[in-house]
Amino acid sequence: MCGIVGYIGPKSLDSFLIVGLKKLEYRGYDSAGIAIIDKNELVVRKSTGKIVDLEKLIENDKFDGHVGIGHTRWATHGAPTKINAHPHTNQAQTIAVVHNGIIENYTNLKKDLINEGYIFISDTDTEIIAHLIEKYLKTEKNFENAFYQTILLLEGKFAIAAVSEFEPEKIFFVKDGAPLIIARNTTVKESFLASDLPALVPIAKESCYLENKQWGYMNNTDFKLYNWNHEPVKLQFILIDLKIEQFEKGKYEHFMLKEIHEQPSMIRRILANRIKDGIISFNEFKVGDEKLKKIGRILIQASGTSLIAGKLGKMYLENNSRIYTEADFSSEFRYRNPLVEGDTMVVGISQSGETADTIAGIHEAKSKFLRVISFVNNVNSSMARESDGIIDLLAGPEIGVASTKAYTAQLVNLFLFSLYLGRLNGNLSETELERNLKELMTIPEKIEKILNNIDPIIKIAEFLKDQKDTIFLGRTFNYPTSLEGSLKLKEISYIHASAYAAGEFKHGPIALVSENLPVILTVPNSEIRPKILSNLMEVKARLGKIITIVTEGDQEIIDLSDYHITIPDIEESLSPLLAIIPLQLLAYYTALFKGCNVDKPRNLAKSVTVE
Ligand code: F6R
Repeated sequence: MCGIVGYIGPKSLDSFLIVGLKKLEYRGYDSAGIAIIDKNELVVRKSTGKIVDLEKLIENDKFDGHVGIGHTRWATHGAPTKINAHPHTNQAQTIAVVHNGIIENYTNLKKDLINEGYIFISDTDTEIIAHLIEKYLKTEKNFENAFYQTILLLEGKFAIAAVSEFEPEKIFFVKDGAPLIIARNTTVKESFLASDLPALVPIAKESCYLENKQWGYMNNTDFKLYNWNHEPVKLQFILIDLKIEQFEKGKYEHFMLKEIHEQPSMIRRILANRIKDGIISFNEFKVGDEKLKKIGRILIQASGTSLIAGKLGKMYLENNSRIYTEADFSSEFRYRNPLVEGDTMVVGISQSGETADTIAGIHEAKSKFLRVISFVNNVNSSMARESDGIIDLLAGPEIGVASTKAYTAQLVNLFLFSLYLGRLNGNLSETELERNLKELMTIPEKIEKILNNIDPIIKIAEFLKDQKDTIFLGRTFNYPTSLEGSLKLKEISYIHASAYAAGEFKHGPIALVSENLPVILTVPNSEIRPKILSNLMEVKARLGKIITIVTEGDQEIIDLSDYHITIPDIEESLSPLLAIIPLQLLAYYTALFKGCNVDKPRNLAKSVTVE
């Protein structure tokens, strides 16, 4: 949610900032802008729309500077207009700031500044920062102190970078609640900052993730880092060991398609990493077995797709380890004063590890002195650093705004964790463990089979692209599949999609069914299949259009379907790992046929860093 970049060094500044912003565009794409110190003068350029629009705007500019910042916006305060685009400046246009997050007390600060004669041109919360720095420059002896006095006043969650004509060789920065990384390449005397690693790969060589309430400044060779008392903090740079290919689409048209296709190899990698000689281990996980044995209850809190994985995680944990588990929206968990006991363990699940709602949930758990573990894809994220133990999702970078491979990585890791706990507390026998692992090992090949048979999916997508409403149904393990399938469809194709537990559908929502309403049912081979068959018949009797995700060879269901997609046979509990693949592809192709921007769906951002 909002991307920030900063660069000091010998390279062409506008090109670095533009390239960096393009790599962060998944964080927001309402508008974009850059601020450059050009021969000691501040130059700002901004435009609405995507980074390519900004690129066009500056194509004839000849900048001569080596200090600059840039921003790609996901609007919070103020419409996505040019005026509201970042960077924001003071009236004299000598100070420019970019900001990710929210300044919660900006209304009062703005009122005071207006009373003191400062003139505002935007509706954003960010603009106050430039005015405040200017105000403090009148009383403080230097820019550093003026920046410090300003950030002390700010309440909320933010990452900010600032440049100014007063310190033309430096970029100032602060992090409190939103991600910020500083980085360097010492061989060519370059310094960088960014809200996420993709902007830095492959140019920066070493990075340092800032902690909350850290701030400072950098020039092309040096960094100063301070805590909230303005005391120096030791910097710890680590080598960036990611490859550029991980952040590129390669032969695929979209990141989403690439990431869907990466799932078999990703699952093979996770299994190879976690299972050695039939024994499950989580090397990075630092919570000892003795502590895990004492868990009486598990409370999963997460958002969006990660919560849907959590709902399946609940079933896995209850089935395999028999530990009572709940799964709740982070945004609800945080504010509903949940009933917990000392032996409750709170589990956060997140691809980014930076979701503000989920981090707030972790803070809530910590305030109740509960043990917190997180399943995260970014092991350097805020969530990872604030948890007592982490499980690395090992999905690799996920760039497509609609989560796909992170979801299946979450399911595999949650399933393995449930087996691990089950063995630990004696609720799962060695034979059951072996059977589950054996079944799990078949998943990558079965997913490959689905990926190699997309014709039926394309046919359904062609039908779906003209529909306004759809319904997704599933039972038990595949109720979450219907939630995730419907979320994928609505977020990238903008077709309305509701998901229901198939057995519950008849208790009201079935009123929605009329002729040709597409109803997408997941019907795996399972004990519950006869019940889902009845649910299917209920829809069919009301002339709904039946689309099924069905086990190969299940002719009865196939014959009842208007359209169907087959998946290989698998144990019911693992069928969501197969059933979700055609639903991801269905959403992808439907959006594609509708002409939607698959990797940058409207109104969305990859990492939601505001509550
Ligand atoms: C949906 C999607 C979102 C995220 C949610 C949580 O495709 O990507 O629903 O799952 O915003 O994000 P993380 O997992 O980063 O906490």
